[in-house]
Amino acid sequence: MTNWKDIDQKAKQWVKEAGEKIRNSFDSTLSIQYKSNPNDLVTNMDKEIEQFLIGKIQETYPEHRILGEEGYGDEVTSLDGVLWIIDPIDGTMNFVHQQRNFAISVGIYGDGIGYIGLIYDVVHNELYHAFKGEGAFMNDLPLPMLDKVKIEEAIVSVNATWLLENPRIDHNLMTKIVKKVRGTRSYGSAALECAYVASGRLDAYMTMRLAPWDFAAGLVLIEEVGGSMSTITGEKLDLLTKNSFFVGEKSLHNLILTEYLI
Ligand code: IPD
Ligand code: CA
Ligand code: CA
Ligand code: CA
Repeated sequence: MTNWKDIDQKAKQWVKEAGEKIRNSFDSTLSIQYKSNPNDLVTNMDKEIEQFLIGKIQETYPEHRILGEEGYGDEVTSLDGVLWIIDPIDGTMNFVHQQRNFAISVGIYGDGIGYIGLIYDVVHNELYHAFKGEGAFMNDLPLPMLDKVKIEEAIVSVNATWLLENPRIDHNLMTKIVKKVRGTRSYGSAALECAYVASGRLDAYMTMRLAPWDFAAGLVLIEEVGGSMSTITGEKLDLLTKNSFFVGEKSLHNLILTEYLI
């Protein structure tokens, strides 16, 4: 039987160690490369951190599978067994340009069910952590269940992709939402934005396209505080493909979905 507590304890320790490596790297020169286009950055640290975490997992749990953004993990086509979904640095552009607003994100699933979510804001030393059925925490502080929020009092995280025309959804729908809510924000790290929804710093987060490693850990956190999650057109999120993404406090998520988006 899978010992989730043991996995949890080790995962936390490795993520902390990885964070230490990132903090220690701030004084050295980064090697920066482009991936699909000049705005899609990857650094030596993204690669080193993914390799570090995968090395630890493979050494300790050779039977577990790993999906990692930078491709050092396995070719994953099913959710069977224990699956680690890793984004070594979520918010690489922020990491390169700002040295803040980025996080290490690790979600651990068993047969498609989220058991552990870890999102580590390395610069602030804030570890957002959730364990299935036991709640979510920021460092050792338990995060309360999300309270019902009115749309007029909500802070919603959106990004500029909504300004662009999109074949799947009318981008003008966003105008009405932006006018109605109290405020909007955009942090440039999907994982942190999920952690902020889970901790009540944001009431919702919606974006046009995310990969599983951007949100795998975040979903576990949001689930544990009673939030809702779906694509922006209300479908279930798929952990094996890219999705549009919408998470938030339950009543707000439902209201925005039914009255503004679909
Ligand atoms: C990106 C960030 C960003 C989101 C992008 C992601 P990366 O992840 O989460 O906020 O808008 O879609 O690709 O590449 O920095 O790990
Ligand atoms: Ca990336
Ligand atoms: Ca990411
Ligand atoms: Ca990344």
